[in-house]
Amino acid sequence: MINLLPNQFERLACAAEILRTGGLVAFPTETVYGLGAICTNEQALLKIFAAKGRPGDNPLIVHIWHETQLKELVTEINPKAASLISEFWPGPLTLIFPKLAQVSQVVTAGLETVAVRMPRHPIAQELLRLTGIPVAAPSANLSGRPSPTRGSHVVDDLFGKVNLIIEAGYCEAGIESTVLSLASEQPVILRPGSVTKEMIEAVLGETVALAEADAERPQAPGMKYQHYAPQAPAVLFEGSQAAVVKEINRLLIKQAPSKKIVVMASTENLKAYHHEWVLDLGHQTIPEEAGVRLYDLLRFCDQLAAEQIYIEGVAAVGVGLAVANRLRKAVGGNVVKVD
Ligand code: TXA
Ligand code: MG
Repeated sequence: MINLLPNQFERLACAAEILRTGGLVAFPTETVYGLGAICTNEQALLKIFAAKGRPGDNPLIVHIWHETQLKELVTEINPKAASLISEFWPGPLTLIFPKLAQVSQVVTAGLETVAVRMPRHPIAQELLRLTGIPVAAPSANLSGRPSPTRGSHVVDDLFGKVNLIIEAGYCEAGIESTVLSLASEQPVILRPGSVTKEMIEAVLGETVALAEADAERPQAPGMKYQHYAPQAPAVLFEGSQAAVVKEINRLLIKQAPSKKIVVMASTENLKAYHHEWVLDLGHQTIPEEAGVRLYDLLRFCDQLAAEQIYIEGVAAVGVGLAVANRLRKAVGGNVVKVD
């Protein structure tokens, strides 16, 4: 069943009932669409992994609508977590807490910690309120595919595999939440997002580390898998604007004209390519634009049946850090440094 009706708020009671009785509901959040199941029903949780084709060692984020629900999930809320919660919840920040014994190992993939976030999207909030039980929800895409930032992306990946898809247009941020661990002395960002390193540091009054992209010992287990990948081989070019444009143009000229190559470029550079397929990633100084567009454009490359994708790097500053992180994953480490 796909719910495309405008009176969604009235329909959410039905969605909550599906969740409460062990069904799967895909719902919008301000980051990306999530695929939810109540965290107290292991059969329902296992259905998430089956629907997505997700490896069982990749833990899920639990979604709550109210701070009181933390009592059902975590053993302690330390002062750093408390100040981040009061500043950024509801919003795109996931915090890692020591878990209560009752939290299922299926949610945490055997870890002693649980990831929790409080989304601020009004539909997500109302759905979580009506459900009354915390909802585990990974992004509502097939494993390895770009995360869904529109209802139609969820339909493309999961139609027929879930009980309900709530369609609500575009997601505001377009990239997944920031995941922050407070387990060690120094806080560590396991996955960058639109709550930036600088924003967290300003609240905590200390420097925050960035987890190394270490495939052998990833701290956020999900970060070791290839992610966000379009079907065509993709290459990311990092360096000065002039050098990146020059290198991509050099490669375009070398290729057979019949080959469908798609370039993803900043708004400022669009006209620098005399080429048919150039997609606009947004302005260089507004990385939020690339955040909103990125996954939609990667999926669009698939629709175009692109044979090769060349992508301009995005400066890794502010939200640009998260965009650059996702771009590197989308190209499976195929990064060319030019200067
Ligand atoms: O914005 C988001 O966070 C979206 C929406 C739906 O809320 N959800 C999302 O979930 O992106 P998912 O499953 O695609 O990514 C969850 C990430 C993975 O990298 C996972 O390894 C990490 O969070 N994670 C979950 N629990 C963890 C834990 N206990 N310790 C460390 N990392 C954890
Ligand atoms: Mg995901």
